[in-house]
Amino acid sequence: MAQDHDWDAMYSAEEPPPWDLGEVQPALLAFLDRAEIADPVLDAGCGTGTLALLLAGRGHSVTGFDLSAPAVDRARARAAAEGLDAELQVADAAHVADLGIRPRTVLDSGLLHSLDADAQAAYVAGLAAICPPGALVAVLAISLEADQGWGETETTLRARFGDPDWVSTAVEDIEVHARWRGEELRMPGFLLTTHRS
Ligand SMILES: C[S@@+](CC[C@H](N)C(=O)[O-])C[C@H]1O[C@@H](n2cnc3c(N)ncnc32)[C@H](O)[C@@H]1O
Repeated sequence: MAQDHDWDAMYSAEEPPPWDLGEVQPALLAFLDRAEIADPVLDAGCGTGTLALLLAGRGHSVTGFDLSAPAVDRARARAAAEGLDAELQVADAAHVADLGIRPRTVLDSGLLHSLDADAQAAYVAGLAAICPPGALVAVLAISLEADQGWGETETTLRARFGDPDWVSTAVEDIEVHARWRGEELRMPGFLLTTHRS
């Protein structure tokens, strides 16, 4: 089940959307500190660029893409203001193969769970097409148990990244952070990690 959002409107509103914290999700940050992040890195659904710019600041070669032009504009402005070098593009996850990159690491902080079933299938097939063998994919998703009316389960995530394209798949229970009207929100979620076979 996917969210039904007007992404451009949410990014253009006065208050930032709940996920746009200005900092990387803590579970993903902890993962980055223990994982081997090989370049080039793809930040799929990069939003306003927080994750892509953190990685660029760490010296990685990063491409970020998002469907929302206002979000990508904001990400580009932040990159320019911070003097960081990241390729930031407006693109649809269902056509990720058109980006023309061969990422050795893909990070997805809340994109997959935002897509409907057909778009998820096209996105993950696209990742399988562009990732070289051994590439690492990490996906942070909100659990259906967060009671938002949408979300993932360990079963739906594992089914998306199944044989024969994906190996060594693991799914960890995590906490997803959000902020809305000054309130700090904590929701159950998952961090899936997998490798292109
Ligand atoms: C929950 S937000 C997460 C954004 C960002 N990763 C973050 O953590 O701040 C989901 C993002 O997916 C983007 N998105 C939704 N559908 C998309 C699609 N089909 N292709 C690319 N991006 C999409 C939205 O614009 C939004 O920025």
